[in-house]
Amino acid sequence: MTRGWQITLTDDAPRVELVELDAESLRPPADAPDAAADVEVAVTFSGLNFKDALAFTGNPGVVRCSPLVPGIDVVGTVAASSTPRWAVGDRVLLNGAGAGETRHGGLAERAHLDGATLVATPTVFTDAQAAGIGTAGFTAMLAVLALERHGVTSGDVLVTGASGGLGSFAIALLARAGFTVTAATGRPENAARLRALGAASIIDRSELDRPSRALESQRWAGVIDAGCGQPLATALAQVRPLGAVVACGNASSPALATTVMPFILRGVALLGVNSTITPLALREQAWQRLARDLDPAVVDSIARTVELEHAAERAADVLAGRVPGRLAVRVASGASA
Ligand SMILES: NC(=O)c1ccc[n+]([C@@H]2O[C@H](COP(=O)([O-])OP(=O)(O)OC[C@H]3O[C@@H](n4cnc5c(N)ncnc54)[C@H](OP(=O)(O)O)[C@@H]3O)[C@@H](O)[C@H]2O)c1
Repeated sequence: MTRGWQITLTDDAPRVELVELDAESLRPPADAPDAAADVEVAVTFSGLNFKDALAFTGNPGVVRCSPLVPGIDVVGTVAASSTPRWAVGDRVLLNGAGAGETRHGGLAERAHLDGATLVATPTVFTDAQAAGIGTAGFTAMLAVLALERHGVTSGDVLVTGASGGLGSFAIALLARAGFTVTAATGRPENAARLRALGAASIIDRSELDRPSRALESQRWAGVIDAGCGQPLATALAQVRPLGAVVACGNASSPALATTVMPFILRGVALLGVNSTITPLALREQAWQRLARDLDPAVVDSIARTVELEHAAERAADVLAGRVPGRLAVRVASGASA
């Protein structure tokens, strides 16, 4: 039997339980769109992303099959494999690709996954650190790569939602890549932590969360945005000619009321990132770059470890915005953090 969280949608509140799962309840649902399950992973760590926190509330946009083992991040060791790509004992990780949404995810001791979506865990990171990076760090890396592909490789950049997981990793990665980083936060008490990650300056979220003009003073070569809403509209109006904004999240609001002026007068690009549907080659590129550029000590300063049995209560803290940085979840009792 395998210990894990299970979320069952009902006509009333969802049933959220830490249970003993048999092998059958860990198999992907027969109608899952991505049902290949040729690798069995002994899970050591998972994470508590914003999406995972929503799953614990039974949010139907995340919980797309029922019952579901949540956890969009999976880190562990191959226990059985019927694909030549992976052998027993390989250290592997997964971010998204349906895990914890349309198929069972990482918040159980075993996961049956599609080997074509797995990435080798970089040797520089422990399993706890790989989960500490998780979807937040992976997405921040994808956002930096998107800026670079667009030709934005230096200058002043803005990170919104800076105290969160994605924002924290974006600051560290952009600073490491040589950008001058401004962090926008609604929690000024985190300023020292954001400076330690590499932010050269801090602005209050309210500086962006106000009615904006179609075009404002040119400030940013690039923007990595975790919040959307009015702050993103204001940031777009402040991007320099030929700069780019990477839209990653909607922590503030999914709405974006802007004009076409930044796009047609300054040639600004609005780039989207969805870590879940990222093709394997780009997943591997992003993790190789994380291994090269992210000091494991920085990961330890951003992520904390919580035990599997506390995942549901800590999910509520994530939704309430009470968690600075990021939470990794120790799934295998005894796995070293
Ligand atoms: N596109 C993708 O593939 C992808 C991947 C991962 C995450 N995401 C999305 O990106 C966003 C951030 O994810 P995360 O894991 O970093 O979440 P998180 O750790 O909960 O951080 C979100 C941050 O957004 C800011 N924030 C919270 N409430 C806000 C509000 N009402 N208005 C403005 N800002 C607010 C806060 O930072 P401050 O206190 O510093 O302002 C908070 O720390 C979420 O929307 C998530 O769903 C998308």
